[in-house]
Amino acid sequence: MNILFMGPPGAGKGTQAERIVEQFAVPHISTGDAFRLAMKQGTPMGLKAKEYVDQGLLVPDEITNGIVRDRLLQDDCSKGFLLDGFPRTLQQAEALDGMLADMGRSLDHVINLKVDRGLLLARLTGRRICKSCGSTYHILNNPPKQEGICDKCGGELYQRSDDNEEKVGTRLDEYISKTAPLLSYYEGKSLLREVDGEQDIDVVTAEIVSVLRGSN
Ligand code: AP5
Ligand code: MG
Ligand code: ZN
Repeated sequence: MNILFMGPPGAGKGTQAERIVEQFAVPHISTGDAFRLAMKQGTPMGLKAKEYVDQGLLVPDEITNGIVRDRLLQDDCSKGFLLDGFPRTLQQAEALDGMLADMGRSLDHVINLKVDRGLLLARLTGRRICKSCGSTYHILNNPPKQEGICDKCGGELYQRSDDNEEKVGTRLDEYISKTAPLLSYYEGKSLLREVDGEQDIDVVTAEIVSVLRGSN
């Protein structure tokens, strides 16, 4: 199954992806995670990406498209994939269509997690992530059992450098001007399904599962 998650920063794409990939046994491809890993490793691509990510700006399309193309060609994607945070521009969406066409494949589902802008800042400033396994928490909405420690692996939790008020503002502006127009692109292809991302995390997961299973 070839799945794409859309939604503004903080909508819950990563949180839901963690759960859906377990149930559907497809790899989770997050361009944001790929950039953060390359930045941590200090690779040339990571250093270039850092100039943009640290400011809350989108990384140029040619860098981003290359990462996704390489990843989709890996063996584990042959059974499907879940893309989170890509595409984010019309140019990326068209590039993705081309990559999939070359592979003789196409998207099965595009799910848009809808969350009002007013809720996103609190979600992002309260987010904490595990340094070891990448699991996502929220200090109020989804706290770990022990403060600062990952429930799943015991790793240390940290806060993303772009999860402060100023960077969140820039990220939301980037989303509205460059990414939100993609919703009509996928609506035009009759692929888009909206899920109310303001509901409880478990309720959102259940709704996504029923969309993916074609039972609603
Ligand atoms: P990326 O890492 O993708 O960040 P983002 O799109 O800003 O999205 P987030 O990861 O912040 O939010 P999310 O929807 O995953 O929310 P989460 O589940 O964590 O990208 C980072 C940067 O990389 C970009 O700014 C850009 O520079 C670059 N980049 C990445 N992709 C790119 C591309 N394609 N092109 C160009 N540049 C690119 O949830 C958020 C919080 O809310 C958590 O604390 C969670 O616990 C909580 N929460 C989740 N669901 C709920 C719920 N239902 N109720 C209550 N709380 C909830
Ligand atoms: Mg994410
Ligand atoms: Zn962990």
